Amino acid sequence: MEQATININSKHTIGVVDRMIYSGFVEHMGRCVYGGLVPSTFPAASAQDECTGIFRKDVLDAMKEVRPPLVRYPGGNYTANFNWMDGVGPDRKPRIELAWRNVEPNTFGTNEFIDWCRAVGTEPFLCLNMGTGDLREALAWVEYCNSDSDSYYANLRRSHGYERPHNVKYWCLGNEVYGDYQVAQVSKEAYAAMAVQWARAIRFLDPSVKLVLCGKHGYDDWDSYVLGECIEHVDYHSIHLYSEQKTHEMAFFAPRIAETAIVWTQSMIGLARYQKKVARPVKICFDEWNVWNPQKYPGFEGHEEIYNVSDMLGVAVWLNVFLRHADTVEIACLAQAVNVIAPLFTKDGALLKQTTWWPYFLASKYLAGRSVSAHAACSTFQGPLVGQLERFARMLPDELPYLDLAATIDDDGGILTVSVVNGKLEDVQVDLQIDCPLQAGIERIEVAGEPLDENSFDNMEKIVPVHSDLTTSKTVVLKRCSYTLLRYKI
Ligand code: AHR
Repeated sequence: MEQATININSKHTIGVVDRMIYSGFVEHMGRCVYGGLVPSTFPAASAQDECTGIFRKDVLDAMKEVRPPLVRYPGGNYTANFNWMDGVGPDRKPRIELAWRNVEPNTFGTNEFIDWCRAVGTEPFLCLNMGTGDLREALAWVEYCNSDSDSYYANLRRSHGYERPHNVKYWCLGNEVYGDYQVAQVSKEAYAAMAVQWARAIRFLDPSVKLVLCGKHGYDDWDSYVLGECIEHVDYHSIHLYSEQKTHEMAFFAPRIAETAIVWTQSMIGLARYQKKVARPVKICFDEWNVWNPQKYPGFEGHEEIYNVSDMLGVAVWLNVFLRHADTVEIACLAQAVNVIAPLFTKDGALLKQTTWWPYFLASKYLAGRSVSAHAACSTFQGPLVGQLERFARMLPDELPYLDLAATIDDDGGILTVSVVNGKLEDVQVDLQIDCPLQAGIERIEVAGEPLDENSFDNMEKIVPVHSDLTTSKTVVLKRCSYTLLRYKI
């Protein structure tokens, strides 16, 4: 069995973990909304799906277990050809939807989504259409959602049954508008000029909003250009990345590409703030991330990806990456919430928690407070790098350790939680070097399996967390292919 060492430096705070890194994302795509948030027959009730009001109860209950602080909506690429007015009030307009080439019935729109958010206990995070949409339409949406004035769109909201404003605080200035796959692609120069105008106008209407600039992947000249032009006007810079997983190693190591993207984006933000003399912080909003095999599960077929244990470890590494950069990444949205590359999967009246659900759920529940330094001395990947790892080799560290780590100390300072992902195909015995006295072990929570193991409707609990007692022994054995939380009273 491999022998490794883990060092935890409880006094070195990386940053305070913002729970917004456990945010979610709902897009009008595939079966995310219709079949996910509401029955596929919506607005007609389905005989098979038990509902709370109009919402699927199983999905609602699962989302309540995570309590994502924000949920981004309505896209995604869908945003670029959507008109919010088609989906409010009694007269809903079915439209041909060009991002995913469907007819969107618009029976589920802004108010249904905000009602769902209130039922979950999360905040809506809305994405403005900077593709086919114009500023007038965007301002009307902000007024409809947030204004308490005696004005047309605020009164329209009232006439739809919502007397009080929805108070939507977080708004994206477009989604992936740089992409040649967008309904309306724009250049970085055109986008930056537009983003400045939109940000100014939106803040005239509601100065309390938080605005997210549309960045790219965090390693592109798009990112440096738009930051340089717009930094004074925004609160966050968004980046999107999906890690691929054609092999076990790819699933486990590819999120490290995102880690480099975060570091580079942080530098670009720092430089832009310096050049434009912006004193207040601007943070990273990683508002789409996940493990995704786009060749096997293409968007036009609804991205109904079935996830295995390797993918689960990838998601756990992603979450560790955000924790390791708690000083910079304030928001991260797992794309997406249900059915579409998602940890939750529905079939008729049943809900499946996929393998990837478990790291998302466990991290959101136990990893909070201060993120502190953690380091593993263990064996490293010896290659060869293939696929996404090869394409992005320049963004990978020289060494890729098989143990991936993060650690947090809760707000009261009384609980240390070590989050460790063992990507190795063998058990690893760890010597734990923790620089503070351990009063007691609270519990060990472990999710493990073979790389290709999946949960299915026939075997829903093949991969689930196992809770066990934990002592303060310095030696811990980590199972092969496992995600483990070690919780200590300190
Ligand atoms: O999440 C699926 C798609 O991936 C989103 O619509 C888009 O923003 C991204 O490219």
